[in-house]
Amino acid sequence: MTKTIDFRSDTVTKPSEPMRRAMATAEVGDDVFGDDPSVNRLESASAERLGKEAAVFVPSGTMANLLAVMTHTRAGDEVLMGDECHIFNYEVAGSARVAGVQVHALHNHADGTLGTAEVEAAIRAPNIHAPRNPLLCLENTHNRCGGAAVPIAAMDEMTGLAHRHGLAVHLDGARLFNAQVALGAPAARIARDCDSVSFCFSKGLGCPVGSVLCGSKEFVAEARRNRKMLGGGMRQAGILAAAGLYALEHNVDRLAEDHVNARLLAQGLSKTGAFAPIEPHSNIVVADIVRGEVDVWLRRLAEHGVLAVAFGPQRLRMVTHLDVSAADVEEAVSRIERIAGVVAA
Ligand SMILES: Cc1ncc(COP(=O)(O)O)c(C=O)c1O
Repeated sequence: MTKTIDFRSDTVTKPSEPMRRAMATAEVGDDVFGDDPSVNRLESASAERLGKEAAVFVPSGTMANLLAVMTHTRAGDEVLMGDECHIFNYEVAGSARVAGVQVHALHNHADGTLGTAEVEAAIRAPNIHAPRNPLLCLENTHNRCGGAAVPIAAMDEMTGLAHRHGLAVHLDGARLFNAQVALGAPAARIARDCDSVSFCFSKGLGCPVGSVLCGSKEFVAEARRNRKMLGGGMRQAGILAAAGLYALEHNVDRLAEDHVNARLLAQGLSKTGAFAPIEPHSNIVVADIVRGEVDVWLRRLAEHGVLAVAFGPQRLRMVTHLDVSAADVEEAVSRIERIAGVVAA
């Protein structure tokens, strides 16, 4: 039987045997009472890695971002962010519906950065008619910008600008450890001047569930209250936290393999002549289709056991992860070459 090679997302990984053992034997307690030793360990380890005072464990990256927006703002405020960012495109407008804020989406450059002049121009002067601007949201690595690792200089420029104008900065670091590996700089340095930062265990780190939101003690205490309001107060969540602790120890440095595999995949796609991939910085390959239609490609790929997702009218996204090896990528490329001969002939 043809092996399915699943590039739809790095969220498709299944927990490994040793991760499952760590979960099965986790020490647990009621986390809403603060009694779960595994959650407490994970929160301290996450905060320490990110150079922040505290962290709160949440079920998803979406909840971490929503909590960040809720905790930094009041209803009626306006939040600045890039128009390609995940919060703006894929979080069901929770910022508007749940946090009650207005989003001002600014042009994202292809490399995941925002323009300094444009951000500066968007910050409103205090005025009785205008919403307040308490928050700027950034993303690194940048999913829709092909997994771009936003350089430290660009991060520092944005945090410096925001702080000069009295805005806090939240970093959606769902794949921050991919940025760490791609930039060769510690996650704590990348996020150094961000007031809050979230990262996901359920993506490249290979866990079944979970994200954290890190920041100052006061910020995290308030975010914890908001988490309870959203129904995100979990009880014996140590079973999930144990997976995160395992991942922090074993699955961070190996992200480099996913990045090598993404480059292999992009080269393979390019060679078919049917795709023009963006040069991958990390584990995400975004490729424009230059021959054939996206729906036909997705169907034909799936028929040959290669799974990808549409990422625009003539774009595919393929993500490398823990559960695809270099050999799987080579196999996928040879299947894609065969299909290209038919679909795009
Ligand atoms: C950049 C980014 N932020 C946030 C999220 C949301 O994470 P979750 O799916 O855990 O809600 C994702 C998910 O793919 C993401 O890519």
